[in-house]
Amino acid sequence: MPIIYHHISAMRTALQTHRGQQRIALVPTMGNLHKGHLELVTLAKQHADIVIVSIFVNPTQFGEGEDFDSYPRTLDSDVAKLTSVDADYIFAPSIDEMYPVLPPPTCVLAGAIANQLCGQSRPGHFDGVGIVVSKLFNIIQPDLAVFGQKDYQQLAIIKQLVRDLSYPIEIIGAPIVRADDGLALSSRNQYLTNAERQIAPVLHQALQRLAQQLATGKLSQQRMQASLAETRRYLTDAGFTIDYLEIKTDQLGSITTAEGSNIVEKRFIILVAAWLGRARLLDNEFVTIN
Ligand code: PAJ
Repeated sequence: MPIIYHHISAMRTALQTHRGQQRIALVPTMGNLHKGHLELVTLAKQHADIVIVSIFVNPTQFGEGEDFDSYPRTLDSDVAKLTSVDADYIFAPSIDEMYPVLPPPTCVLAGAIANQLCGQSRPGHFDGVGIVVSKLFNIIQPDLAVFGQKDYQQLAIIKQLVRDLSYPIEIIGAPIVRADDGLALSSRNQYLTNAERQIAPVLHQALQRLAQQLATGKLSQQRMQASLAETRRYLTDAGFTIDYLEIKTDQLGSITTAEGSNIVEKRFIILVAAWLGRARLLDNEFVTIN
């Protein structure tokens, strides 16, 4: 069973016995763990000797009117799940422990990469992610940290943070874990009603369909925009309210159009966020043009 620490000082003391001799991995989470989170721990175990899972529902990354209060807090069952995957430590601080002053006057801003996609519909969200992940990196000082590709923009922002703030931490991106019907696992899927849960896999199906369309033949800007518009209609007809459906480079830059309006990139990513009832669902799919 993992050892749980709620205080920064006790967590740091425990890690002193490992530091320098064993590779330490951090898996940051907000708890309410599912198989997607547990796969991150399993991956971390393959790259490190000691795995710490942080569980902290971070208030600074939730906007006004968002689900901070209702976000499921399930520490006991999280501990049982983390026992099954052999995590070594759980770091589960209180809000006061993490934020002596709330909101903290110090900011970690990621710039342009954070102002698009999810950052556009959730202003300030990635500022909150930036500060909490920086704090976790400083508290745990891991050799590596694992993040899921489901939150692709978050992963890209963390890689930028590590580069720009010179954290000596390797960042590993873990593949998206899905239910059998293709829906990406998420703590927020439990907000779906039974009827909505039946519709939810359409999101991934639509991405796969779009990816197939884009991967074949010469891809022009016009054809890409037409396929995007068609997918938006398809999702709206199925009952989704689309937040964004966009195509970006793997670094989340704009894709480039050459003369004749053909797309230059041979590999890019489709990213989507869409509401279904009370749940905001995220997904993404890479496209490689042969
Ligand atoms: P949370 O939503 O709990 O997710 C924790 C980690 O699990 C993230 O890296 C996320 O990308 C990954 N994850 C969630 N569902 C996944 C799935 N189906 N497949 C693969 N990975 C998945 O993301 C956060 O918490 C917070 O923003 C955090 C980084 C902890 C900062 O507060």
